[in-house]
Amino acid sequence: MRAEQPQAVHLADYRVPAFLIDHVDLRIELFEDCALVHSRLNIRRNPADESQARDLVLNGEELGLESLMLDGRPVENHRVDEGFLTVPSVPEHFHLDVTTRIHPRDNTRLEGLYQSSGMFCTQCEAEGFRRITYFLDRPDVMACYRTRIEADREAYPVLLANGNPVDWGELEDGRHQVTWEDPYPKPSYLFAMVAGDLVEKRDEFVTGSGRTIDLRMYVEARNEAKCEHALASLKKAMAWDEEVYGREYDLDIFMVVAVDDFNMGAMENKGLNIFNSSCVLASPETATDAAYDRIESIVAHEYFHNWSGNRVTCRDWFQLSLKEGFTVFRDNQFSADMGSPTVQRIDHVNMLRTAQFAEDAGPMAHPVRPDSYIEIANFYTLTVYEKGAEVVRMIHTLLGPDMFREGSDLYFARHDGQAVTTDDFVSAMEDASSRDLTQFRRWYGQAGTPELRVTDTFDAESGTYTLTIRQSCPATPGQSHKEPFHIPVRMGLIASDGEALPLDAEQNTETVLELTGDEHSFQFSGLAERPVPSLLRGFSAPVKLDYPWTRDQLMFLMSRDPDGFNRWDAGQKLAVDVILSIQQGRDTEVDPRPVEAYRTLLTTPGLDRAMVARMLALPSTAWLIELTDEADVAAIDGARHQVEQTVARALRDELVQVRADHHPGGSYAFEPGQVAARSLSNSALTLLTRIGDEQGREQALAQFEQATNMTDRLAALKALVDSPFSQEREDALARFHADWHHDPQVVEQWFAVQSGSPWIGNVNCVTELLAHPAFDWKNPNKVRMVIGVFAGRNLTHFHSPDGSGHRFLGEQIRRLDAFNPQISAQLAQPLTRWRQYAPHLRDSMAGILRELRDLPDLSRDLYEVVTKSLGESG
Ligand code: PHE
Ligand code: ZN
Repeated sequence: MRAEQPQAVHLADYRVPAFLIDHVDLRIELFEDCALVHSRLNIRRNPADESQARDLVLNGEELGLESLMLDGRPVENHRVDEGFLTVPSVPEHFHLDVTTRIHPRDNTRLEGLYQSSGMFCTQCEAEGFRRITYFLDRPDVMACYRTRIEADREAYPVLLANGNPVDWGELEDGRHQVTWEDPYPKPSYLFAMVAGDLVEKRDEFVTGSGRTIDLRMYVEARNEAKCEHALASLKKAMAWDEEVYGREYDLDIFMVVAVDDFNMGAMENKGLNIFNSSCVLASPETATDAAYDRIESIVAHEYFHNWSGNRVTCRDWFQLSLKEGFTVFRDNQFSADMGSPTVQRIDHVNMLRTAQFAEDAGPMAHPVRPDSYIEIANFYTLTVYEKGAEVVRMIHTLLGPDMFREGSDLYFARHDGQAVTTDDFVSAMEDASSRDLTQFRRWYGQAGTPELRVTDTFDAESGTYTLTIRQSCPATPGQSHKEPFHIPVRMGLIASDGEALPLDAEQNTETVLELTGDEHSFQFSGLAERPVPSLLRGFSAPVKLDYPWTRDQLMFLMSRDPDGFNRWDAGQKLAVDVILSIQQGRDTEVDPRPVEAYRTLLTTPGLDRAMVARMLALPSTAWLIELTDEADVAAIDGARHQVEQTVARALRDELVQVRADHHPGGSYAFEPGQVAARSLSNSALTLLTRIGDEQGREQALAQFEQATNMTDRLAALKALVDSPFSQEREDALARFHADWHHDPQVVEQWFAVQSGSPWIGNVNCVTELLAHPAFDWKNPNKVRMVIGVFAGRNLTHFHSPDGSGHRFLGEQIRRLDAFNPQISAQLAQPLTRWRQYAPHLRDSMAGILRELRDLPDLSRDLYEVVTKSLGESG
């Protein structure tokens, strides 16, 4: 057990800062073994503060204090405690000069200033700036920064910081300096600097008002050919934000840097976005369509933060979803506009429903705006990001696109340059639209996934159809009772001939029902027969919906629902019912209906191929677990496998035909038509190889040999790995590694194909991967691709009945916690859901959590995850 228990921070304790910092002047001297940070802060009392505090208390972690002066005179009565520097009795306004010594090379936490493959870079969100210098490290303290970086000119020719370069020159001893100035006040978490030997890729963008913005991407020389897609994505995002939100970029230069060692995906530092290499670098030979897609949306996400996050930022970290929820919503809208909105929505909801719903149903459940945290790094969650985005989407649905845009304009105008709350965001939406969102605000404060129970009656005589919807929400930690939510339910009714029925006097065939009470009834009249309801179209609210559709009705909806999302969802519901009926012994044979539905999809000309590929994918094991109490993973997997076999065998000829008809030839382009074709053709390949016969083997081998892009190559490799062809598998894995061992992004994929494989990715296999020369404990991507993929995606082997998978994870978490607590806490995620599983799995998972809890020097990050999972701390 830890010596002292870390304390929680509470939203209710928020106080305005006692002091404000208007200006920060930094001079950062970089050396091989350390860095010296000279900081001059212009500080004044905060007129809004009533505490009358006389002492200035600054945050600082693991800093060597070299000197401290107040208005030019050395300070002698200061105190340095764990995490703080206190300067007693300071004047009304003054300047403070602080010099600290830090050790970036030994920084394995990757927070603050650290080294990654020879370059220096920073990560300050949420509380990393305090690892660079003493500061009021909280987002409601906004200052203008001037940053001078000094380093050896040969080793670090490129020196970057936020804003515009204003001065540069040679220094003694082969050193040089570049000085940057950022005119926009910002919180310390948006500070960034980079120093390295990097190549520069230039582009430009002309804004709506005619300003030319310099776009620059900085990467290591070996990555020079992988910048094009990110730059193209950036330009699309800049144009889109002008068009859809009226937001123009505000500095003269926008920089993007790729670094290999990064705890998260990317970071929106003002004017200097820093990316995990895996989220920004791409070429057709090395990146899949999925990676191209992810890069496009992450580049856009970080760019969009310039307004939703940087110009208007968060008052405190409880408001994290103010910037993240809104920005995820914006990047979702952008991705929808760049490709197929329906497919984008399906992929997104699929992830939300499996992973965020699981979080909301587990011991770490928290509201979109949490009430308390022990370590804020643990709150970059699916709830804050993805559910937060769904909450914004519901506002968009309730207001409609035009009012929503007026609300966002008002929000940006009213709060530009401020640090505000989610409440301020909702108020702007209310004020612009005159809609009352009082009850709607509960989405921010109440955790848990609401459940809708729908029943219906049809009165043939009067032709009246009545839908009754009851809402409820399960208890979550610290919240036993929930008030009803304000829930928009988009819906329609469909006649037996497939016609969309009019719902009102204006003959609308689609409407949004608004639920506010515990129970509502809605009547639709003038109907000739009992309709089939199509509910929650486009997944209009993040809820679980229960309605007793028959399998025949689901078949009907799969082909007839005018809403593409609901067509897919009907197919998922049907497949879930078929699989779980097999698993629970309600069916002894696989119902042929899904096969027939898939056959229709495969043989109907003119359907959206990306949609067909999505519809052919059976519900994931993770989603099936989520829908099952006391989940027995092996049994669920067995049933899913049986259904998949049946489908694949029955459809073999159609699958072969689809591949012949749709596989794109010619040169690679990341373009919706090609992406859709590859997606369909590769889904068909996966199913074919599941049969385990000669035809699948040949197709996979041929594609592996002939592929000219990574999408096809990796799909073929995966198909071979997850197949009974052991010699082919070994050969393909060896070949792939031999071809790509020099490229970290591809090696990451090679690791994941193995650690995620239900065929070969057992504990022995992942243990061997950890010993592979390319594995690197200090590189979060490698750790995630081997350990994270095994525990998060390879549920078959992670939940091996002998508990070996759980033990394996426990050991690796323990090892990682000693040097990178953010990563160890992230990796512990799969254990938190232990209560969802069958008794033998549950006991083994809880046992690992208890062992971790009892470690003597557990990090606060891991402490919070482990104790909350066990239900031991609030
Ligand atoms: N703010 C980043 C984003 O979502 C995520 C991030 C958080 C990165 C914390 C690093 C550290 O855009
Ligand atoms: Zn973000």
